[in-house]
Amino acid sequence: MSETPDIAVLQAEMGKVAEAIDKALERILPAVEGHEARLLEAMRYATLAGGKRLRPFLVLASGALFEVPTERTTRVACALECIHTYSLVHDDLPCMDDDDLRRGMPTTHRQFDEATAVLAGDALLTYAFEIVADPRTHHDPLVRAELVHAMAREAGAHGMVGGQMIDLLAENQEMDIGGVTRLQQMKTGALIRFAVDAGAIMGRATKEQRHALQNYAHDLGLAFQIVDDLLDVEGSAEEMGKAVGKDEDSGKATFVSLLGVDRARTQAQMLAEQACVHLETFDDKAELLRLLPHFVVNRRH
Ligand code: IPE
Ligand code: IPE
Ligand code: MG
Ligand code: MG
Ligand code: MG
Repeated sequence: MSETPDIAVLQAEMGKVAEAIDKALERILPAVEGHEARLLEAMRYATLAGGKRLRPFLVLASGALFEVPTERTTRVACALECIHTYSLVHDDLPCMDDDDLRRGMPTTHRQFDEATAVLAGDALLTYAFEIVADPRTHHDPLVRAELVHAMAREAGAHGMVGGQMIDLLAENQEMDIGGVTRLQQMKTGALIRFAVDAGAIMGRATKEQRHALQNYAHDLGLAFQIVDDLLDVEGSAEEMGKAVGKDEDSGKATFVSLLGVDRARTQAQMLAEQACVHLETFDDKAELLRLLPHFVVNRRH
Protein backbone atom coordinates (compact mmCIF):
# COMPACT_ATOMS: atom_id res chain seq x y z
CA MET A 1 0.00 0.00 0.00
CA SER A 2 1.42 3.41 -0.92
CA GLU A 3 2.05 5.17 2.39
CA THR A 4 1.39 8.89 2.44
CA PRO A 5 1.15 11.03 5.60
CA ASP A 6 -2.61 11.30 5.11
CA ILE A 7 -3.01 7.56 4.96
CA ALA A 8 -0.98 7.28 8.15
CA VAL A 9 -3.50 9.65 9.77
CA LEU A 10 -6.36 7.46 8.58
CA GLN A 11 -4.72 4.29 9.81
CA ALA A 12 -4.04 5.80 13.22
CA GLU A 13 -7.65 6.92 13.44
CA MET A 14 -8.95 3.49 12.35
CA GLY A 15 -6.75 1.90 15.01
CA LYS A 16 -8.19 4.21 17.68
CA VAL A 17 -11.76 3.50 16.59
CA ALA A 18 -11.14 -0.27 16.55
CA GLU A 19 -9.76 -0.10 20.09
CA ALA A 20 -12.67 2.01 21.34
CA ILE A 21 -15.20 -0.33 19.68
CA ASP A 22 -13.52 -3.42 21.13
CA LYS A 23 -13.85 -1.87 24.60
CA ALA A 24 -17.45 -0.79 24.04
CA LEU A 25 -18.43 -4.24 22.74
CA GLU A 26 -16.76 -5.85 25.72
CA ARG A 27 -18.97 -3.69 27.99
CA ILE A 28 -22.15 -4.12 25.98
CA LEU A 29 -21.77 -7.92 25.73
CA PRO A 30 -20.87 -8.94 29.28
CA ALA A 31 -20.25 -12.59 30.10
CA VAL A 32 -23.01 -14.15 32.23
CA GLU A 33 -23.33 -17.17 34.42
CA GLY A 34 -26.11 -19.73 34.39
CA HIS A 35 -27.97 -21.38 31.55
CA GLU A 36 -27.30 -18.74 28.88
CA ALA A 37 -23.56 -18.64 29.63
CA ARG A 38 -22.68 -20.71 26.58
CA LEU A 39 -24.71 -18.49 24.26
CA LEU A 40 -23.07 -15.30 25.54
CA GLU A 41 -19.69 -16.97 25.34
CA ALA A 42 -20.25 -17.75 21.64
CA MET A 43 -21.56 -14.21 20.96
CA ARG A 44 -18.50 -12.74 22.65
CA TYR A 45 -16.16 -15.18 20.90
CA ALA A 46 -17.38 -14.12 17.46
CA THR A 47 -17.68 -10.41 18.17
CA LEU A 48 -14.57 -9.73 20.22
CA ALA A 49 -12.31 -11.57 17.78
CA GLY A 50 -11.07 -8.38 16.15
CA GLY A 51 -11.94 -7.50 12.59
CA LYS A 52 -11.26 -4.22 10.88
CA ARG A 53 -14.29 -2.51 12.45
CA LEU A 54 -14.83 -0.70 9.16
CA ARG A 55 -18.58 -0.25 9.62
CA PRO A 56 -18.20 1.23 13.14
CA PHE A 57 -15.56 3.59 11.72
CA LEU A 58 -18.07 4.77 9.12
CA VAL A 59 -20.80 5.35 11.73
CA LEU A 60 -18.42 7.45 13.83
CA ALA A 61 -16.98 9.37 10.87
CA SER A 62 -20.41 10.11 9.46
CA GLY A 63 -21.75 11.20 12.86
CA ALA A 64 -18.70 13.45 13.32
CA LEU A 65 -19.75 15.42 10.20
CA PHE A 66 -22.79 16.56 12.18
CA GLU A 67 -21.13 16.72 15.58
CA VAL A 68 -23.13 13.82 16.98
CA PRO A 69 -21.69 12.92 20.42
CA THR A 70 -19.45 9.84 20.26
CA GLU A 71 -21.37 8.07 23.06
CA ARG A 72 -24.35 7.91 20.71
CA THR A 73 -22.52 6.91 17.54
CA THR A 74 -20.55 4.29 19.48
CA ARG A 75 -23.74 2.52 20.55
CA VAL A 76 -25.04 2.37 16.98
CA ALA A 77 -21.60 1.30 15.77
CA CYS A 78 -21.66 -1.61 18.27
CA ALA A 79 -25.16 -2.60 17.18
CA LEU A 80 -24.08 -2.63 13.55
CA GLU A 81 -20.96 -4.65 14.36
CA CYS A 82 -23.24 -7.19 16.11
CA ILE A 83 -25.27 -7.52 12.90
CA HIS A 84 -22.15 -7.75 10.75
CA THR A 85 -20.68 -10.41 13.06
CA TYR A 86 -23.90 -12.43 13.00
CA SER A 87 -23.81 -12.30 9.19
CA LEU A 88 -20.27 -13.73 9.27
CA VAL A 89 -21.16 -16.47 11.79
CA HIS A 90 -24.04 -17.63 9.60
CA ASP A 91 -22.07 -17.11 6.34
CA ASP A 92 -19.42 -19.54 7.64
CA LEU A 93 -21.88 -22.33 8.53
CA PRO A 94 -21.62 -25.66 6.66
CA CYS A 95 -24.94 -24.95 4.92
CA MET A 96 -23.52 -21.72 3.49
CA ASP A 97 -19.78 -21.20 2.80
CA ASP A 98 -18.62 -23.99 5.14
CA ASP A 99 -15.54 -22.21 6.49
CA ASP A 100 -13.26 -23.17 9.36
CA LEU A 101 -11.33 -19.94 9.84
CA ARG A 102 -12.59 -16.42 10.56
CA ARG A 103 -10.67 -13.41 11.86
CA GLY A 104 -7.71 -15.72 12.30
CA MET A 105 -9.56 -18.11 14.62
CA PRO A 106 -11.75 -21.21 14.27
CA THR A 107 -15.23 -20.20 13.07
CA THR A 108 -17.91 -20.11 15.76
CA HIS A 109 -19.54 -23.42 14.75
CA ARG A 110 -16.08 -25.02 14.80
CA GLN A 111 -15.25 -23.62 18.22
CA PHE A 112 -18.67 -24.43 19.68
CA ASP A 113 -21.16 -26.36 17.50
CA GLU A 114 -23.58 -25.56 14.71
CA ALA A 115 -26.66 -25.05 16.86
CA THR A 116 -24.78 -22.68 19.18
CA ALA A 117 -23.47 -20.73 16.18
CA VAL A 118 -26.97 -20.37 14.74
CA LEU A 119 -28.31 -19.17 18.10
CA ALA A 120 -25.38 -16.81 18.72
CA GLY A 121 -26.09 -15.25 15.32
CA ASP A 122 -29.81 -14.93 16.10
CA ALA A 123 -29.07 -13.34 19.47
CA LEU A 124 -26.54 -10.88 18.01
CA LEU A 125 -29.09 -9.76 15.43
CA THR A 126 -31.87 -9.19 17.96
CA TYR A 127 -29.51 -7.59 20.46
CA ALA A 128 -28.55 -4.99 17.83
CA PHE A 129 -32.16 -3.78 17.78
CA GLU A 130 -32.30 -3.72 21.57
CA ILE A 131 -29.19 -1.51 21.64
CA VAL A 132 -30.51 0.95 19.07
CA ALA A 133 -34.02 1.14 20.57
CA ASP A 134 -32.61 1.93 24.03
CA PRO A 135 -33.11 5.60 25.07
CA ARG A 136 -29.38 5.81 25.84
CA THR A 137 -28.77 5.67 22.08
CA HIS A 138 -30.76 8.84 21.41
CA HIS A 139 -33.16 10.85 23.56
CA ASP A 140 -35.58 11.45 20.66
CA PRO A 141 -37.84 8.41 20.05
CA LEU A 142 -38.39 9.51 16.45
CA VAL A 143 -34.66 9.34 15.78
CA ARG A 144 -34.50 5.90 17.41
CA ALA A 145 -37.45 4.70 15.33
CA GLU A 146 -35.80 5.97 12.15
CA LEU A 147 -32.56 4.18 13.04
CA VAL A 148 -34.40 0.93 13.76
CA HIS A 149 -36.31 1.22 10.50
CA ALA A 150 -33.21 1.90 8.40
CA MET A 151 -31.23 -0.87 10.13
CA ALA A 152 -34.01 -3.42 9.59
CA ARG A 153 -34.34 -2.45 5.92
CA GLU A 154 -30.61 -2.72 5.18
CA ALA A 155 -30.11 -5.96 7.14
CA GLY A 156 -33.18 -7.80 5.84
CA ALA A 157 -34.64 -9.48 2.77
CA HIS A 158 -34.04 -6.49 0.50
CA GLY A 159 -30.63 -5.82 1.99
CA MET A 160 -27.89 -8.07 3.41
CA VAL A 161 -29.93 -11.27 3.86
CA GLY A 162 -31.46 -10.96 0.39
CA GLY A 163 -27.95 -10.47 -1.01
CA GLN A 164 -26.74 -13.62 0.74
CA MET A 165 -29.59 -15.57 -0.88
CA ILE A 166 -28.70 -14.29 -4.36
CA ASP A 167 -25.01 -14.95 -3.60
CA LEU A 168 -25.76 -18.63 -2.95
CA LEU A 169 -27.81 -18.84 -6.14
CA ALA A 170 -24.87 -17.27 -8.05
CA GLU A 171 -22.98 -20.54 -7.55
CA ASN A 172 -25.24 -22.40 -9.95
CA GLN A 173 -26.57 -19.68 -12.15
CA GLU A 174 -25.20 -17.54 -14.97
CA MET A 175 -25.06 -13.97 -13.81
CA ASP A 176 -24.10 -10.85 -15.74
CA ILE A 177 -22.35 -7.78 -14.40
CA GLY A 178 -25.66 -6.09 -13.58
CA GLY A 179 -26.76 -9.09 -11.53
CA VAL A 180 -23.47 -9.29 -9.65
CA THR A 181 -23.55 -5.54 -8.96
CA ARG A 182 -27.02 -5.82 -7.46
CA LEU A 183 -26.04 -8.84 -5.35
CA GLN A 184 -22.93 -7.07 -4.00
CA GLN A 185 -24.87 -3.91 -3.23
CA MET A 186 -27.28 -5.98 -1.19
CA LYS A 187 -25.01 -8.43 0.62
CA THR A 188 -22.23 -5.95 1.48
CA GLY A 189 -23.34 -2.49 0.35
CA ALA A 190 -26.48 -2.44 2.47
CA LEU A 191 -24.77 -2.53 5.90
CA ILE A 192 -22.18 0.00 4.70
CA ARG A 193 -25.03 2.24 3.56
CA PHE A 194 -26.67 1.95 6.97
CA ALA A 195 -23.34 2.85 8.63
CA VAL A 196 -23.13 6.26 6.97
CA ASP A 197 -26.88 6.80 7.09
CA ALA A 198 -26.91 6.26 10.85
CA GLY A 199 -24.61 9.24 11.40
CA ALA A 200 -26.79 11.33 9.11
CA ILE A 201 -30.01 10.29 10.88
CA MET A 202 -28.61 11.10 14.32
CA GLY A 203 -27.15 14.34 13.00
CA ARG A 204 -30.46 15.37 11.42
CA ALA A 205 -28.73 15.85 8.08
CA THR A 206 -30.51 17.60 5.23
CA LYS A 207 -31.95 15.50 2.40
CA GLU A 208 -29.08 16.57 0.13
CA GLN A 209 -26.43 15.67 2.71
CA ARG A 210 -28.05 12.28 3.32
CA HIS A 211 -28.27 11.63 -0.39
CA ALA A 212 -24.59 12.55 -0.88
CA LEU A 213 -23.57 10.13 1.88
CA GLN A 214 -25.73 7.36 0.42
CA ASN A 215 -24.05 7.80 -2.97
CA TYR A 216 -20.66 7.69 -1.25
CA ALA A 217 -21.64 4.46 0.55
CA HIS A 218 -22.91 2.94 -2.69
CA ASP A 219 -19.55 3.33 -4.45
CA LEU A 220 -17.50 2.48 -1.37
CA GLY A 221 -19.52 -0.67 -0.64
CA LEU A 222 -19.12 -1.94 -4.17
CA ALA A 223 -15.38 -1.20 -4.16
CA PHE A 224 -15.07 -2.97 -0.80
CA GLN A 225 -16.72 -6.19 -2.03
CA ILE A 226 -14.77 -6.19 -5.33
CA VAL A 227 -11.59 -6.08 -3.24
CA ASP A 228 -12.91 -8.90 -1.02
CA ASP A 229 -13.37 -10.96 -4.20
CA LEU A 230 -9.89 -9.93 -5.46
CA LEU A 231 -8.30 -10.92 -2.16
CA ASP A 232 -10.08 -14.28 -2.39
CA VAL A 233 -7.92 -14.81 -5.50
CA GLU A 234 -4.76 -12.90 -4.64
CA GLY A 235 -4.63 -12.82 -0.84
CA SER A 236 -3.32 -15.32 1.68
CA ALA A 237 -5.20 -17.02 4.53
CA GLU A 238 -2.51 -15.72 6.96
CA GLU A 239 -3.16 -12.08 6.06
CA MET A 240 -6.91 -12.43 5.62
CA GLY A 241 -7.58 -14.57 8.69
CA LYS A 242 -10.00 -16.60 6.55
CA ALA A 243 -9.74 -19.18 3.76
CA VAL A 244 -9.04 -17.94 0.23
CA GLY A 245 -9.79 -19.38 -3.20
CA LYS A 246 -13.35 -20.19 -2.17
CA ASP A 247 -15.24 -18.26 -4.83
CA GLU A 248 -13.54 -19.98 -7.75
CA ASP A 249 -13.89 -23.41 -6.10
CA SER A 250 -17.63 -22.90 -5.75
CA GLY A 251 -17.92 -21.50 -9.29
CA LYS A 252 -19.41 -18.29 -7.95
CA ALA A 253 -20.02 -15.35 -10.29
CA THR A 254 -18.09 -12.33 -8.96
CA PHE A 255 -16.61 -9.19 -10.51
CA VAL A 256 -13.33 -11.08 -10.71
CA SER A 257 -14.82 -14.12 -12.49
CA LEU A 258 -16.62 -11.85 -14.95
CA LEU A 259 -14.00 -9.14 -15.57
CA GLY A 260 -10.72 -10.79 -14.62
CA VAL A 261 -8.33 -9.53 -11.95
CA ASP A 262 -7.01 -6.43 -13.74
CA ARG A 263 -10.32 -5.01 -14.84
CA ALA A 264 -11.89 -5.76 -11.46
CA ARG A 265 -9.09 -3.82 -9.77
CA THR A 266 -9.52 -0.88 -12.17
CA GLN A 267 -13.24 -0.94 -11.44
CA ALA A 268 -12.62 -0.85 -7.67
CA GLN A 269 -10.23 2.08 -8.10
CA MET A 270 -12.72 4.00 -10.24
CA LEU A 271 -15.44 3.44 -7.67
CA ALA A 272 -13.15 4.62 -4.87
CA GLU A 273 -12.44 7.88 -6.73
CA GLN A 274 -16.10 8.30 -7.55
CA ALA A 275 -17.01 7.78 -3.88
CA CYS A 276 -14.95 10.84 -2.91
CA VAL A 277 -16.64 13.05 -5.50
CA HIS A 278 -19.92 12.66 -3.59
CA LEU A 279 -18.33 14.26 -0.53
CA GLU A 280 -17.71 17.60 -2.25
CA THR A 281 -20.59 19.22 -0.39
CA PHE A 282 -18.81 18.60 2.96
CA ASP A 283 -15.87 20.59 4.26
CA ASP A 284 -12.67 19.41 5.96
CA LYS A 285 -14.72 17.41 8.46
CA ALA A 286 -15.12 14.76 5.71
CA GLU A 287 -11.36 14.23 5.39
CA LEU A 288 -11.32 10.77 6.99
CA LEU A 289 -14.22 9.66 4.80
CA ARG A 290 -12.27 10.96 1.78
CA LEU A 291 -9.23 8.89 2.73
CA LEU A 292 -11.11 5.67 3.43
CA PRO A 293 -11.72 4.54 -0.19
CA HIS A 294 -7.96 4.58 -0.76
CA PHE A 295 -7.52 2.25 2.22
CA VAL A 296 -10.35 0.02 1.01
CA VAL A 297 -8.86 -0.60 -2.44
CA ASN A 298 -5.30 -1.07 -1.18
CA ARG A 299 -6.05 -3.27 1.81
CA ARG A 300 -4.45 -6.69 2.17
CA HIS A 301 -6.96 -8.08 4.63
C1 IPE B 1 -16.13 -9.54 5.44
O1 IPE B 1 -16.23 -8.26 5.97
C2 IPE B 1 -17.39 -9.90 4.76
C3 IPE B 1 -17.76 -9.01 3.65
C4 IPE B 1 -18.86 -8.36 3.65
C5 IPE B 1 -16.87 -8.86 2.52
P1 IPE B 1 -14.94 -7.54 6.58
O2 IPE B 1 -13.79 -7.67 5.61
O3 IPE B 1 -15.31 -6.17 7.01
O4 IPE B 1 -14.63 -8.45 7.85
P2 IPE B 1 -14.00 -8.08 9.27
O5 IPE B 1 -15.10 -7.44 10.06
O6 IPE B 1 -12.84 -7.15 9.06
O7 IPE B 1 -13.60 -9.41 9.84
C1 IPE C 1 -20.31 -12.50 2.90
O1 IPE C 1 -19.60 -12.49 1.71
C2 IPE C 1 -20.96 -11.20 3.12
C3 IPE C 1 -21.86 -11.26 4.27
C4 IPE C 1 -22.98 -10.63 4.25
C5 IPE C 1 -21.51 -12.04 5.46
P1 IPE C 1 -18.41 -13.53 1.61
O2 IPE C 1 -18.88 -14.92 1.79
O3 IPE C 1 -17.64 -13.21 0.38
O4 IPE C 1 -17.55 -13.09 2.89
P2 IPE C 1 -16.22 -13.80 3.35
O5 IPE C 1 -15.29 -13.76 2.17
O6 IPE C 1 -16.60 -15.17 3.78
O7 IPE C 1 -15.74 -12.92 4.46
MG1 MG D 1 -20.64 -15.97 1.50
MG1 MG E 1 -17.97 -16.45 3.11
MG1 MG F 1 -15.48 -13.25 0.20
